[in-house]
Parts: sequence; C-alpha cells; structure tokens
Amino acid sequence: MKISFIGSGKVGAAIAYSVALKGLATEIVLTDHSSDKAHGEALDILQGQAFCPQAKITSGEIVDTADSNIVVITAGTPRRADEPRIELLSRNAGIIMDITKKVVALSPDCILFIVTNPLDIMTYLAYHASGLAAGRVIGMGTALDTARYRSYLAKQFNVDARDIDAYVLGEHGETMVPLTSNIHVKGLPLSSLPSYDEEAVKQIANDVCSASGQVIALKGGTVFAPAVAACAVLEAIINDTRQLLPVSVFSDKYKTALSLPAIIGRQGAIQALDIPMTPLEEAALGKSIENIKTYITELKN
Ligand code: LAC
Repeated sequence: MKISFIGSGKVGAAIAYSVALKGLATEIVLTDHSSDKAHGEALDILQGQAFCPQAKITSGEIVDTADSNIVVITAGTPRRADEPRIELLSRNAGIIMDITKKVVALSPDCILFIVTNPLDIMTYLAYHASGLAAGRVIGMGTALDTARYRSYLAKQFNVDARDIDAYVLGEHGETMVPLTSNIHVKGLPLSSLPSYDEEAVKQIANDVCSASGQVIALKGGTVFAPAVAACAVLEAIINDTRQLLPVSVFSDKYKTALSLPAIIGRQGAIQALDIPMTPLEEAALGKSIENIKTYITELKN
C-alpha cells in the first residue's frame, strides 16, 4: 500500500506520522514545494521506524509518487483564525487542479484524499480535474467536524466518544450542519442518558462550528484532530471496512461536493446515504449546499 503526500506541512506531516504509527502503508512518500521540509519530515518519521510497523519512508518530487494507491493532498495555504476557509479559494484552486492532473497521470488507479481548504470546493475541482469516478476523490470534509462533535458530546455526557453516532453534514466550513435530532449512543437515543441536557446539546452543536477557529487562535493551526480524522478515513479505505463516515464527495444529485455519510471501502466512497433529518436540519443542509455552489459559480466567473 503506497500512500503519497502532496504537502508536508503541519497537517500533511501529522497524517503521514499517524499512517506510519498505525502501520497503514508499506510505502510513504512525502513531497512539498520545499524539498527540505519534505525531506526533514520523512527523516523524522523514518527515525522512529525501530518502534513502528515497518514501511519504506522517503521524500521526493511529484514524479516519485507514481503508482500510489492513495494520494493525500494538503498542499495550499492554511487559513488564519479570523479568515473564513473560503478566503483561500482563489489561492488554492489553481494549486489543486495542477497537482491533481500531475498526480493522476502518474497514479491513474489511485484514490485522491483532499484536505486543502476550502475543502468542498477543492474536492469538487479535484474531481473534475482528475477524470476519476466520484467515489475515488474524497475530501476529509465533515469527518473532522463529526469527530469534534462526538468528542464534545462524549465529554459532556461522560460516555465513550467511539460509541456516539452523531453527524455534522454539508460544508466543511461556516455553514456546516451538526444534526441534533438523530444522536445515539450504541443504538440508544442520547436522550435516554440520565445526564441528558437538550440545551447542552444545542450549545455543543454551536461550539463545533467554531472549534477549528478556537484552536487556530490558540496555537496557530489545527493538526492532531485533522490527522486523526484523516486516518479514520484512510484506514476504512485501506482495510476495506465499509465504515460509515461523513466525507466530501461530488454528488450528482446536488451537483457539488459536500459531506454526507458514505460507506467507505477499498474502492473509496462506495455509497452516500441520506439520513433522517428534521425540516429545520434539511433547510440548513440546503443552505449549506447553496453556499458551496455560490463559491463554485464565482470561481467559474
Ligand atoms: C479544520 C481545518 C482542517 O477544520 O479546516 O481544522
């Protein structure tokens, strides 16, 4: 399993480190516009190999990513705390389309995993530039926001976050939609917990929308939660687990990329699923979709 990284910044390097630690790849290639950065990160991960599952860890140029099974794209400029993800649109659009074409020419059977923001639009552009089937171009999307949501709910109600079924859907951005009507803990409605507090759930749904900005303001950027969320999706692909995860994929129905729960396996996002929502939640998802499409229209003009 060869996994290549286009972009070895904080998030790309953290994902590569997590992949190495979990033994998800037999070969890891790190690339970056700064070859020293890519080489430094590869060396740093390599030097820990004595206590990790074994993998060939190298750095190089895009040409060295040839025949990758998965290519993780984090290249692009990160946002500042006060900067909406969408501000990165013009800067990162050209970068993503150029990289996608080069990468897919070298690895025509790969799955693309997009992390660069604004995520849904980058996923949309990568899909159209790649010529791959939609399910083979996966954006990390609200898998990250869903991880934050479940983690905050677990902390509030003192349960195992891995037992919580709660989803954030739509845009990985300001219009994301944390669902509050359909939260379960190992199949039991969250409201069946003695400690259940509806107001606390509403507050958490609100907090998750600004969770990233809070971290960026404190430490300059988010790293570990994105790396964990990315690894969850990569693991589902590599191990063909058919896990249900909310990821950003181009939807023929909505004519844009957005995050919906999808069954993830070795072929990528195999099937996106509609889940029950209240009319309010459906309206919020509709607004989120329109928001993504507005920016795509602007990009085309
Ligand atoms: C975040 C970035 C990765 O949400 O968009 O942390």
